[in-house]
Amino acid sequence: MKIAIFDSGLGGLSVLNEALKKLPNEQFLYYADKDNVPYGLKSNEEILKFTTKAVKFMQEQGAKAIVIACNTATSVAIKELRSNFNLPIIGMEPAVKKAVDTCKKARTLVIATPVTVKGNKLKELIARVDSDHLIDLVALAKLVEFAENEEFNSPRVKEYLQSELLEFDLSLYSSLVLGCTHFNYFKDSLREILPSHIRLLDGNEGTVNKLKFELERLNLLERSPANVEYFYSGRAVKESAELDKINRYLDRLDKMLFIE
Ligand code: DGL
Repeated sequence: MKIAIFDSGLGGLSVLNEALKKLPNEQFLYYADKDNVPYGLKSNEEILKFTTKAVKFMQEQGAKAIVIACNTATSVAIKELRSNFNLPIIGMEPAVKKAVDTCKKARTLVIATPVTVKGNKLKELIARVDSDHLIDLVALAKLVEFAENEEFNSPRVKEYLQSELLEFDLSLYSSLVLGCTHFNYFKDSLREILPSHIRLLDGNEGTVNKLKFELERLNLLERSPANVEYFYSGRAVKESAELDKINRYLDRLDKMLFIE
């Protein structure tokens, strides 16, 4: 049986990349909802509809567990998905707890999609962990599209990031939380524009640890050679040009792993 990893697009490859390292004897299915990306600019009803369709598909393909490797889809749909489907579903949340635990008394900036920033789920999480009110949120509406177009480190990207962060006195912040899986591709661009004392935090490791823990608990771990099948909105990806593109994204993520 397979572990299915789902995102609106190619951002969730950052979770797959981590999962391949931590769970090297598993079969994976990666589902990118390419027809409907970006989710972060859509309504909650649309996101719930797209995500439900994808989860149904992944279950039919023999998924034993599903990771919603998308902060936006988790924020909108995780509750309904868990009550409508009978298999373990692991969600993804911006790593604000990690930020509060590691950066005592300094400010944290969370960057995420507009839907995640507006959503109650993140607000409730922050209310639970941020008793000193040290967390600020920024919605970055354009980064997902840049990532899907394989534009990561161009002058346009850096100008966009700079202009969105202009209003913050960055000397007051000690961490930047990447609250969208697509944002992992921009660690080098962010590093170039942020002061060196700011740490970049993502939720990939925590999410994969949760997945591993859950599979161990349910005795669902396997011992097979690793394999990944890719699907774009329910269509198997077989073309070598597209598989080469996915490998370029995974290579980039490997390079971004060393940037903190
Ligand atoms: N990777 C998704 C996330 O983590 C991006 C959502 C989108 O498509 O806007 O939020």
